[in-house]
Amino acid sequence: MTGMFITLEGVDGAGKSTHIPFIAELLKSKGYEVVLTREPGGTPLGEKLRELLLHQPMSPETETLLMFAARNEHLQQVILPALARCALVLSDRFTDASFAYQHGGRGVAVDMVITLEQMIGGFQPDLTLLFDVPVEVSCQRLSGARDPDRFEQENATFFQKIRDAYLQRAAEFPQRFRIIDANRPLEEIRNELEDIISNI
Ligand code: TYD
Repeated sequence: MTGMFITLEGVDGAGKSTHIPFIAELLKSKGYEVVLTREPGGTPLGEKLRELLLHQPMSPETETLLMFAARNEHLQQVILPALARCALVLSDRFTDASFAYQHGGRGVAVDMVITLEQMIGGFQPDLTLLFDVPVEVSCQRLSGARDPDRFEQENATFFQKIRDAYLQRAAEFPQRFRIIDANRPLEEIRNELEDIISNI
């Protein structure tokens, strides 16, 4: 058994958080040591940066640089050591989120995101599960959120750009992306997740 890096992506309100414990259990039952982590965050420094990223106003470029600062720390301290001991790393978001949110949503030049990705090693997940829902659905789900953060406060146009950018990433990297239609009953989504995990 070798290490494996799985990431979970999707617009805010796609329902990703609901499925994470279920996916982690499926993977554990396959015998993996599962390291469940998240971005921005995943390390003490990363969690401090997360606080700033979610609540402190800043320019889109600063936001991008801080996302990658947190990501580099996460890679060095958590992801790479776990993979080296053959664990399975399950991360709630990774670099695809910077392509979707900072480039797609905020309009940061794609070259900046590509350059930063390369500067921290150009590391790619083995599998990315993209939870996809129409923007009306994610906005509806978010409308009930208490104390929305800087991203959750954005409007439907912003989320539409993010959804489009994610779908474009999935089309660019079809070998590692699985698009999950997350606008279905929970049971159906779980069946599909079971199917995907049983085949890894
Ligand atoms: P999210 O993963 O949705 O956590 P929660 O479910 O606790 O709200 O929140 C993280 C936010 O950070 C989300 O709105 C997307 C944003 N984000 C980026 O903009 N770029 C990135 O590279 C990453 C990792 C996250």
